[in-house]
Amino acid sequence: MENTELHTINKDESVISITGLYKSFDDVQVLDGIDFTLLKGENFAILGKSGSGKSVLIKIIVGLLKPDKGEVIVLGQQVDKLNRKELDALRIRVGFSFQSSALYDSMNVYQNLAFPLTMNYRDLSKKEVGNAVEEVLESVGLKEKLYQMPSDLSGGQRKRVGIARMLILKPEIMLFDEPTAGLDPITSNEIIELINEVKKQNNASSLIITHDLTCAKNTGDRIAMLFEGKFLKAGTFKDVFAMDNEHIKGFYNYNFIQ
Ligand SMILES: Nc1ncnc2c1ncn2[C@@H]1O[C@H](COP(=O)(O)OP(=O)(O)O)[C@@H](O)[C@H]1O
Ligand SMILES: [Mg+2]
Repeated sequence: MENTELHTINKDESVISITGLYKSFDDVQVLDGIDFTLLKGENFAILGKSGSGKSVLIKIIVGLLKPDKGEVIVLGQQVDKLNRKELDALRIRVGFSFQSSALYDSMNVYQNLAFPLTMNYRDLSKKEVGNAVEEVLESVGLKEKLYQMPSDLSGGQRKRVGIARMLILKPEIMLFDEPTAGLDPITSNEIIELINEVKKQNNASSLIITHDLTCAKNTGDRIAMLFEGKFLKAGTFKDVFAMDNEHIKGFYNYNFIQ
């Protein structure tokens, strides 16, 4: 799986560009000078321990949190300068898959998937919505679960529906927050394959934030390790883990005791 897609990446075109990003809460400096570029067509994985600031970074990218300092440009727009309407428009183009999958428990799978579509495109016919839901559900391998309730699904299936709900708006950038958290190794591998598959199918760019070494290794064309608010290094998995750095080496142990 290693970097076979790298040749399809457009090195001239960045879809996310972050420079000198700082964010603290009270006296805790969570992000302490982050520079980062997501190139069009690449999968970039950010690896970091629990509490290292991964979710904060994603929330800043989608404008849910404001940076203290630094520039965050997503699809050519400076996120913290956007008004409500511009932000809503941007969020259609930038899909966000939550750690918890965040499905509506009182809605079946069909309704969960139709919801973002009908909210954003009010003039779609029932048939158009139905077709889109079926197509996206098929692409995550859950065609037969259309009328199930989330509570009837396994953890892996809920993740798939969460990913389908992101895909239905055909995002140009996909953000995955801990896509494999809480899953057994076999289900994790299925989700990893799905992340790689949907990126190809949708010709999108993905940012995957994870504490799971296997997930970072097998999804990331490039990875970066987030440690004490900074990226220790960005590069291929091989490059990063070839570094003689105690924190990077320590990550192996961290994963084995998870
Ligand atoms: N809205 C907030 N207010 C105060 N502290 C926060 C907030 N969001 C995150 N934090 C703190 O920022 C740090 C990083 O959190 P987070 O990005 O969620 O970590 P993770 O890498 O596990 O996703 C944690 O110490 C967390 O308590
Ligand atoms: Mg998190």
